[in-house]
Amino acid sequence: MDAREMKVKAAEAALAHVEDGMRLGIGTGSTAEEFVRLLAEKVADGLQVQGVPTSERTARLCLELGVPLKSLDELPELDLTIDGADEVDSQLRLIKGGGGALLREKIVAAASSCMIVIADETKVVETLGRFPLPVEVNAFGLTSTRMAVERAASRLGLNGEIKLRKSGEDTFTTDGGHHILDASFSRIPDAEALANQLNLIPGVVEHGLFINLASFAIIAGEAGARTLKA
Ligand code: A5P
Repeated sequence: MDAREMKVKAAEAALAHVEDGMRLGIGTGSTAEEFVRLLAEKVADGLQVQGVPTSERTARLCLELGVPLKSLDELPELDLTIDGADEVDSQLRLIKGGGGALLREKIVAAASSCMIVIADETKVVETLGRFPLPVEVNAFGLTSTRMAVERAASRLGLNGEIKLRKSGEDTFTTDGGHHILDASFSRIPDAEALANQLNLIPGVVEHGLFINLASFAIIAGEAGARTLKA
């Protein structure tokens, strides 16, 4: 099974949790996009759902494929969100934001009664941090904010490189008009402590540590899809 087939397997298993009439949060990234494609087929067959996209990119795909969309303000409480992840550990702590949609993804996940993470086995880690942690920051005072992130991390013994994300020659800008610092810590042994520290920094809009948000994960590997619960 190649990487794409595994993403499809995870998406298929998640689709089984979607029921008629649900208000759905729809994630961002290549795995979530496989889910959107499968969901669109069900919608074409008559499934009634209303989706809230977590990014402009996901919104475009949903509109193209005929998945009905609402804004989060129109549907402020959601039944289920299905989204990918860059890393997931055995406690269902996640790193997200590789695609830059972490802020909307976290708001949508927090507004949902249930969040299912879909991923392939390569995303499962013992300790978070191999994937650089995305930290979304306000453009104002970027350097001060980066220094504050460095200091906060350093107090926890985390001293990796923190790089401003680029998109070609330009600085990457999120759907919300912010920028992203990618923090390469290698290992984040205490994700809760780091999340708490980052939450205290004024220029930090959001960070990619998702803690106590995922209900369970569907992990696809060579042998098929398995459910990971905390
Ligand atoms: C988007 O901002 C991310 O949080 C994605 O959910 C994450 O990067 C997973 O993407 P893939 O499914 O493409 O690996």
